[in-house]
Amino acid sequence: MDRVRIFDTTLRDGEQSPGATMNIEEKLVIARQLERLGVDVIEAGFAASSEGDFEAVQRVAAAVAKPVVLSLARTREQDVDRAIRAVERAQRPGIHIFIATSDIHLKHKLMMSRRDVVDAAVWAVTRARKQLDYIEFSAEDASRSDPDYLVEVFTAVIEAGARVINVPDTTGYIMPEEYGALFRMLRERVPGADRVVWSAHCHNDLGMATANSLAAVENGARQVECTVNGIGERAGNTAMEEVVMAVKTRRERFGVDTGIVTEEIYATSRLVSQITGLAVQVNKAIVGENAFAHEAGIHQDGVLKYRQNYEIMNPESIGLASNRLVLGKHSGRHALVARIRELGLDMTDVDMNRLFDAFKALADAKKTVYDEDLIALVAQESVRGANVRDRYELVYLNVTSSSADVPFATVRLRIDGREVNGSGTGDGMVDACYKVISELTDQHPRLDRYAVKAITGGTDAQGEVSCLVSANGVTVTGQGSHTDIIQASALAYLNALNKLETRRACRQADAEVGP
Ligand code: KIV
Ligand code: ZN
Repeated sequence: MDRVRIFDTTLRDGEQSPGATMNIEEKLVIARQLERLGVDVIEAGFAASSEGDFEAVQRVAAAVAKPVVLSLARTREQDVDRAIRAVERAQRPGIHIFIATSDIHLKHKLMMSRRDVVDAAVWAVTRARKQLDYIEFSAEDASRSDPDYLVEVFTAVIEAGARVINVPDTTGYIMPEEYGALFRMLRERVPGADRVVWSAHCHNDLGMATANSLAAVENGARQVECTVNGIGERAGNTAMEEVVMAVKTRRERFGVDTGIVTEEIYATSRLVSQITGLAVQVNKAIVGENAFAHEAGIHQDGVLKYRQNYEIMNPESIGLASNRLVLGKHSGRHALVARIRELGLDMTDVDMNRLFDAFKALADAKKTVYDEDLIALVAQESVRGANVRDRYELVYLNVTSSSADVPFATVRLRIDGREVNGSGTGDGMVDACYKVISELTDQHPRLDRYAVKAITGGTDAQGEVSCLVSANGVTVTGQGSHTDIIQASALAYLNALNKLETRRACRQADAEVGP
């Protein structure tokens, strides 16, 4: 069976989603999960774009062993050198060089001639090739470029040593038949086409990203660039889970395999959603809450009689167990560990004692703990464990509200180990609680987004709150889950404030060290 490589760019293109900021520790948690998932390539960031990105690429490179770890780079000397330095510690290092090739970009963005672009591309690939074997080249906005010119550019960079050729649909403009035909043409006309891997990279502006990527695969692409949950710039990138499950479910048609451990898909999706604060739409293919739910009576009846009447995939194949009722307050540590192992969750950064305490508290509040609850709990503890010590901790919270009274919050926090109390009113319960926390911490960021979602069904379900806050040009997300959504809201806000605090401390340390 032919193999299609999965190139994951959640940490680079995915992070370009509005509001999807991740700190380095969170990127490491995701990178390790991507390795468990079995992706072939991790694009860890754009090393030259900031110190933070450089460090993130460096740390991801050192943290994973199996996937190739890449940094993105423009065709500039500084970019290429920074990218190569950032992946130095990777077991399988690589660089991803790109430059735009469409006339629109040449004229209105780069102000370069076609000749200049070919020269810049060849120069950058040649420079990188002296130090690295694994070089991917992307022609940005390829789908709107002159096909003859694409042939010229790709011929030149293959000669210079590029091993992977990527044909991005940067603006999500092309249609599946056209994209497939483009791959066919390029593979026929570019000399050396059979020596390189052809790669598809699609954006979802017209909702075609998965269809386009599959059309590319049918026409010889052997790498698909994608993100978990399809997050990314504007309408997002190709969703990894959709491509992987499409080629698995329709194996007889595509005749290809991926190396993805599909049973890790659901946990990966939840982790990315929890870290980025970007909720997955309920009807999202494969990982949406309703993806395997049968509502209509006629469907339920059909599924009960014979599952395949209405199911083309098993929920188990993406890691969603059918026996979802798992643990309760009488379950012990062994049962918890066993279930976590069965679910294949990464425990690297998890403090087992804290996890067990959190599980007990949850099991007390809620009769039954489902796999989804467990996945959320482990993701929350992974992020907490990976992050540097929190400055602010919630000790106690009491919020009252009625149709006759103004909401009133009493909060006790531990700040740097010392307990402080405060109380006050607000427009609503969350507002009252956030105002008191802001007073106690003396942090008054702008709240850009606040969202709450139930992790499972039932009135005792855990609420998962995600918020996006910004202060002094820094934007961070915060997450919290609890059976009480006001508590979850407070935890999410404190999580965001802790991240802001860490960023501030890092900036201060940088300033003290000096340039
Ligand atoms: O969409 C795009 O063109 C990109 C390139 C940098 C590959 O993300
Ligand atoms: Zn892109």
